[in-house]
Formats: sequence, C-alpha cells, structure tokens
Amino acid sequence: MDTFHTVPDMTAWSGQQAAAGSRIALVPTMGYFHEGHLRLMRMAARHADRVVVSLFVNPTQFGPGEDLDRYPRDIERDTRLAAGEGVDVLFVPDAAAMYPDGFQTVVSVNGLSRFLCGASRPGHFAGVTTVVCKLFHIVRPHCAVFGEKDFQQLAVIRRMVDDLNMGIEIIGHPIVREPDGLAMSSRNTYLDESLRPSALSLYGAIRLARELAAAGIVSEPELRRRVQEYIGSFPETEIDYVAFVNDRSLETADPVDRATVLALAVRVGGRVRLIDNGYLFPGTAG
Ligand code: PAF
Repeated sequence: MDTFHTVPDMTAWSGQQAAAGSRIALVPTMGYFHEGHLRLMRMAARHADRVVVSLFVNPTQFGPGEDLDRYPRDIERDTRLAAGEGVDVLFVPDAAAMYPDGFQTVVSVNGLSRFLCGASRPGHFAGVTTVVCKLFHIVRPHCAVFGEKDFQQLAVIRRMVDDLNMGIEIIGHPIVREPDGLAMSSRNTYLDESLRPSALSLYGAIRLARELAAAGIVSEPELRRRVQEYIGSFPETEIDYVAFVNDRSLETADPVDRATVLALAVRVGGRVRLIDNGYLFPGTAG
C-alpha cells in the first residue's frame, strides 16, 4: 500500500490509474478505524479495481467547542488495518495541504443541510461537502463509499453529486453494529462502561418505534413522544433530536410510512454526542 501526503502525489497516481483504465473507489474517513470502516473498504473493493482511503480529520466540519482536538487518532494502527484490507492508497493530507493560505471556497447544499444535525451543528455540512468535493477532485474516483450511520451526510453528498453533475457513483453501506446493537463509531471510544446502557438507548428506541409502528401507531407526534420518553428514562441522556423524516426530503413524516427513517442524536454523559437511524419498517430499500 502507498501512503501519500500531498495533493500532487495523489493526483498523479490517480491519473496513471485512470490512464490504465482502472476504476477507482474512494472511502473518505477521519481515521481511527473500526470494523465499520473496514467493511466500507471491502465494499469499495467489490466496486472497483483500485481502492483509495482518505484519512483527514477535517477541521472545517467541527464547530467551536466540539471535539476536534480530542478526536481519536492512531495513524500507525490505521495504516496497518488499511494495508490488511488490501487498500491500494492511504491518502493522509495535512490541513495546510487541504486548506492552503488564501483558501476561500465553500460548497454548500442549502436545503438538506438545514435539518437534524445541520440545525444543531451550524456549518457542519458545509465543512463536509467542501472537503468531500475537494477529495473527489484530488482522487478523481469513479465511485465512493459512505456509511449509512451518517444518514443525513449521505443524503447531502448524493444531492451535491447530482446537483454538480460530478458523475461519481455514491454507495451507501448499512450501519455496522456492535454485538449489543450500538452503532460503530470512532467516537464510541469516549464511552466508558457506565455510559453503555444509555448509549444503547438509541438502538433500543429504534426497535421500540418499529414495534409501535408495526402495531399500527403511525402518528408522528405520538411516536416521537414515546421515543423521547424511552430515551429520557436512561440516566445522563440529553436528546438533541428525535425525528421521523422522509428518507429523501428529510422533512417530517406524519403519518409515518415505508419511506420514514427515525433519526436520532443524543448526548450521553454530558459530552458524547451519538447518532443513529433506521427505517421504521425494516426491509425498506435504503
Ligand atoms: O464521515 C466522515 O468521517 C466525514 O464526515 C468525512 C465524510 C470523511 C468528511 O470529512
């Protein structure tokens, strides 16, 4: 596996691969790999001849007071894990390579970025779409793989790619869960054992909402009240949002239906913000 730190090195490699007729897949990440990331890499390998994984903790998608400084990092371990998956290139630029002096362009998907995480993390999605757009131009992939845990991020990126005619196939990978149901995330390292039951309230809430919907409760206010009550019954949980939304428009669904996703963001133990989501009627094509 090659590791590139500069934009010209990365772009030159991609140019050679494209000239040789290879199909390139990109897996954009912020590192600190877990099984979820490794599955994205495996899926990328099924869709392309060459796999590039980018590893960049993107400062522009963190707001003031968020966890940019303490975001977990372990480049040596990540390099080992990516190499073990047969990844061709690990692209690890630094902030100066991505945002050189004088940088002033922002790519923003205005509508879909307003809801959910966009409401509680102003500027977050503009940071995501700007860096992903840059990565797409640097790596020039034919396809890119993103996890469905970041359900809104995936919707926003698909919109950007369509709106700007980028011609890149965007592939979503289903959420990868721990055996107890917790959605895998690099931020799970912030959780100590005492917070685990509260962290599990998100997945528990998705299962509860599915049971209620299957029993015929389709009123959004009623479902939201029941889910809020459930999550609130766990210690040290603070709900950011409980939202039943249409999977495409991200607007509130009432009554809920087969296109409805329950999206959740909950702060656990005061400082760990977790997100999770799921279709209300499992088996719905995502
Ligand atoms: O999902 C992430 O890890 C990040 O938001 C991404 C897509 C790598 C952009 O920094």
